[in-house]
Amino acid sequence: MKESLLVTGGTGYIGSHTVVELITAGYDVEILDNLYNSKIEVLDQIEQLTGVKPKFYEVDLRDSEALANVFAGKKYDAVMHFAGLKAVSESTKKPLKYYENNLGGTFNLLRCMKDYSVKKLIFSSSATVYGDQPSPFNETLPTGEKISSPYGRAKYMIEEILKDLCASDLGFSVAILRYFNPAGAHPSGLIGEDPNDKPNNLMPIIMKVATGEFPELLVYGDDYNTPDGSCIRDYLHVVDLARGHLAALKHIQPGWTAYNLGSGEGTSVFDMITAFEQASGKKLPYKVVERRAGDLAAFYADSTKAQTELDWQTEFDINDIMRDTLNYLDHQNG
Ligand code: UD1
Repeated sequence: MKESLLVTGGTGYIGSHTVVELITAGYDVEILDNLYNSKIEVLDQIEQLTGVKPKFYEVDLRDSEALANVFAGKKYDAVMHFAGLKAVSESTKKPLKYYENNLGGTFNLLRCMKDYSVKKLIFSSSATVYGDQPSPFNETLPTGEKISSPYGRAKYMIEEILKDLCASDLGFSVAILRYFNPAGAHPSGLIGEDPNDKPNNLMPIIMKVATGEFPELLVYGDDYNTPDGSCIRDYLHVVDLARGHLAALKHIQPGWTAYNLGSGEGTSVFDMITAFEQASGKKLPYKVVERRAGDLAAFYADSTKAQTELDWQTEFDINDIMRDTLNYLDHQNG
C-alpha cells in the first residue's frame, strides 16, 4: 500500500516542488490550498511532470469544518504543512493577519490531526527562528530571541506548540525543517516561484529586473562586515529543499526534531549579481542603497545534522539556481 500524505500549501512554490518529488518517489499525495498565493494551473504542471494529477481541495485552513471534511474522507499517514503567509515586511504591518492565518490555520490542522489520529508531521519552518546570532547556525542554538518579524515569530511559536504537542502525546512524530533561502526552479522550467504578491526576496526581484519590469536591483547596503560589504545568505535550490522533505519523511522519529536545510555556503548579494550575469550573459543594472532594516550581515547554515540523520545534502549550487530560474522565466514568457 502506498503511504498517503496531505500536503497543505501544495500548489505553492516549495509545496509544488515537494509534491513532484513525493509522487515520483511513489507516495499517494493530496493537496490542500486556498490559492491565496498560488495558481490552480500548477496541478497541470505537476501532472505533466509526474503523470499524476493529485486530488485537490480548495480549502482555507481557518475553515475548520471544511478541513475536518477532508480528514474524514481519507486516512492519511502523514501531513506536510507548507500553507501560510510569507511576506515578511507585510507581517510587520499586519501582524494580526499573520498570526490569525499562520497560527490559526495550524491550530485547526493540528486539531484535525489529533481527532483523526494522523500523527506524523513535517513542518516548514524558517532559519529566522534563530534571530540575530553569529552564523553558521546549528540546531543546538537557542531560538526565539531577537526575531525581526511577526512572520518569524509565528514560525517560532508553532515550533514551540509542536513541542508541547509531542510532550503531551508520545504518538506524535514531528520534523521541523528550518529553511535558509530557497531559490531556483524545477529544471524542466514547468514550475517555479510565481507569487501573486509583489516579490520581496532577492531572486524574484533579480528576475523582475531581468525582464525589465523593475528598472534596477537595489542592493541594500555595501558596508557590512563581509568580504565584499554586501549581505551573505545561504541560497538553496528548491529541488534540494523538496528532497529534504522526502528525507525527513523517511527518517522521521517519534517526538520533536528540528533540522536546518541549507547549503552551508555563504553567497553575497554581489556574488548573486555575478552569477546572474554569467548564467544570462547580460548585465544586471543595480544601485547600492541604504541597509534594509532587520537584515543581518551573514546568515548561513550548519546542516551537519540533516546530513548525518537524514542522509541529505544539497546537490545544486548557485549557478544551477540561476540557470533554472532563467529557464523557468523563459518558459513563462515563451
Ligand atoms: C527573508 C526574511 C526571512 C525569510 C526569507 C524567506 C527578512 C529580514 N528575512 O530573508 O525571515 O525566511 O526571506 O526566503 O525579511 N536584497 C537586496 N535587494 C533586494 C532584496 C534583497 O539587496 O531588493 C538583499 C537583502 O539585503 C539580503 C539578501 O538580498 O541580504 C536576501 O534577501 P531576501 O531574499 O529578502 O531574504 P532574507 O532577508 O535573507
